[in-house]
Parts: sequence; C-alpha cells; structure tokens
Amino acid sequence: MADSKIYSASTTAPVNIAVIKYWGKRDPKLNLPTNSSLSVTLSQADLRTHTTATCSAFFPAQDSLLLNGQLQDVSGARTQACFRELRSLRAKLEEQDPQFPKLSRYPLRIVSENNFPTAAGLASSAAGFAALVRAIADLYQLKESPVELSRIARQGSGSACRSLFGGYVAWEMGQEASGTDSTAVQVAPAEHWPEMQALILVVSAAKKGVSSTAGMQATVATSSLFPARVASVPQRMEDMITAIKEQNFESFGRLTMKDSNSFHATCLDTEPPIFYLNDVSRAAIRVVEDINKKAGKIVAAYTFDAGPNAVIYFEEKSTDAVAGVFKERLGHLEGWTGKGESIRASATEGVDEK
Ligand code: DP6
Repeated sequence: MADSKIYSASTTAPVNIAVIKYWGKRDPKLNLPTNSSLSVTLSQADLRTHTTATCSAFFPAQDSLLLNGQLQDVSGARTQACFRELRSLRAKLEEQDPQFPKLSRYPLRIVSENNFPTAAGLASSAAGFAALVRAIADLYQLKESPVELSRIARQGSGSACRSLFGGYVAWEMGQEASGTDSTAVQVAPAEHWPEMQALILVVSAAKKGVSSTAGMQATVATSSLFPARVASVPQRMEDMITAIKEQNFESFGRLTMKDSNSFHATCLDTEPPIFYLNDVSRAAIRVVEDINKKAGKIVAAYTFDAGPNAVIYFEEKSTDAVAGVFKERLGHLEGWTGKGESIRASATEGVDEK
C-alpha cells in the first residue's frame, strides 16, 4: 500500500563567530579549509535559524527550500551534497530494516526562517546549513553524532560545521583528501566560561560586497601574506584552546584580535584588495584599544568577519568598562546611531537535538 503520510522534523541552529578564522579552501569542491578554525556559538534567541524538514511520497518530485518566504535554488553543488549524503545514510537504515519507510526516495520540502534582526547583516549560512542538516537528520532518524553531521554541514558552508555544537568549537582542518577527518568538535561547553559575553555592533546591515566564498578564493590565489597566515594558525589554535581551558581572557583576547587582524591583512593583500572594515569598524578597534589601555590589561577583544560589523568579546564583570564605553563613544557616529544597533549575546548550547 502506498505511504500517504507526511513526515516532519523541526530544529533551530545558532550563529557562531570565529575567533580563529576560516579563510581559504584547499579543496573548493569538498569545501576543505587551508587551516583549522575556532568559534564561539552565540546564545541570543534572535540569532538562530529555525528549520522544518518534511517529506512525503506525494510531494511534487523536486526538492524545495523556502528561506524567509523565498524559494531558493537547491540545484547548487553545496545543497545537493548535503541532500545526497543525508539520503544515503537514510538509505542504509532502510536497507537494514525493510520496515523503515523509504523516506530517502521521497522529495524533501524545507522551510527555513532566519530569526536575526533584519538590520543585523550577519552571516547566515552557518546557522542555515547547520539547521538544514540537523532537521533532515532528525527527519531521517539518523543516529550519526554531531561530529559526523558536521562533515556534511561543512559541505554546505564551511562555518556551518561549527554551529552544530554549542560553546567553544574547533573545526579541525583534517589531512585526508576525501575530507572525512575535516569535522568540528566541541572544545568546551558554554557553561565552562559563564563570564563570556559578546557584544555585536551592527555597523552596516548591507549585504557584503565580496562574498566569503569568492573572497577567500581570491586571497588564496593572489596574497603573498596568506602562506604566512596559514603557517601561524596551528600555534594560535593551540594557544587559543589553552586560553579557553584556563579561562584566560587576556590570552583569549590577544589571540582573537591578532587573528582578526591577520585575516583582514590578507584581505588587503589580495588582488584586487578586499576591504571589509570601514571607518566605524576602525573606530571600534580604537575604542577597544582605549578600554584595554585604561584597564591596564586586555578586558575587551574585537573580531570582524567578512563585513564591517564588530563582535566584541568581554567578561561579564567588565560590562560597564566595555559595553558602557561603546555606547558613550560610538553613539555619535553615523552608521551607528542611524542604522546601527547592538545585540548582546552569550555563549550557548548548539542545535536542538530534540
Ligand atoms: C570570515 O563559511 O561563509 O566568517 O565555506 O564558502 O560558505 P563558505 O564560507 P563561509 O566563510 C566564513 C568566513 C568567516 C570566518 C569564519 O567564520 O571562520
């Protein structure tokens, strides 16, 4: 008898902000990075992607993905890689147990909503692909661990592999040409460092000029500083993991700022040069420098992704010295008062595992 049911699973996945950046692919097809990276998963309830995956034998033959109400093209290699891998894991379960409905053969319907404040202008691919992979894995009742699922999410978008976990997450670049060992792992849960806070300064909500994918490819191809950056990351990763384990904010902050600056230096060294930071971003760097000078130690650390928005990490006990000063000092700047807004977030648990 034909299966008339509609199967469904829902999940949410959070945004993560890297403190050691992923920038560069050694294999663009498999989305394998040139260096390991490390991020903090942010807790803010408004910084998540909500995704529902459904499938039914009666759906129209094509898979579909609706993101914020807009139909997306799912024919791209990245989405296809995720669908293919998840289907093949489901097909194995169906082979093992003939009672299992043949969901791997049914068309998929994915509905996703980014819960980000519309003005945030934050990268959404990380939470997006993490939620997509988790939702389909739940729909298919896969038993794979988050580490194994991170290998799949990585193929959707590199940074997405880190959003499958909460807290402090490393994406280990791996050695294998096939990418089987290029996965994310949790370094420490969020509650390991309850003092950790992030302040997101929304400098511009505009879509970034050069996408991460295009930007990093250009950097790898043309920057002579890039090999030096790649060579310096393994030691920085090691030091960062130690800083997190020891809750050593001075070291965490120094390494975070060093890595952000090193990444943006390679962007500037790209031909043609890529500028992600603007005057407001640079003013934010100066404010952090002043805060740290006044404190006589590092109590605040900035980091910037492929855009001008600043993420400032600090400890709860330094709230007045950090968040207070930012309001006071940057309040008058255009791009901050007019369009900008700040969002407070703290480290969090990863995707809902139901
Ligand atoms: C600067 O993960 O968006 O945010 O793998 O091509 O989808 P693709 O790139 P993506 O790049 C993120 C770059 C970054 C640094 C980071 O998150 O590590």
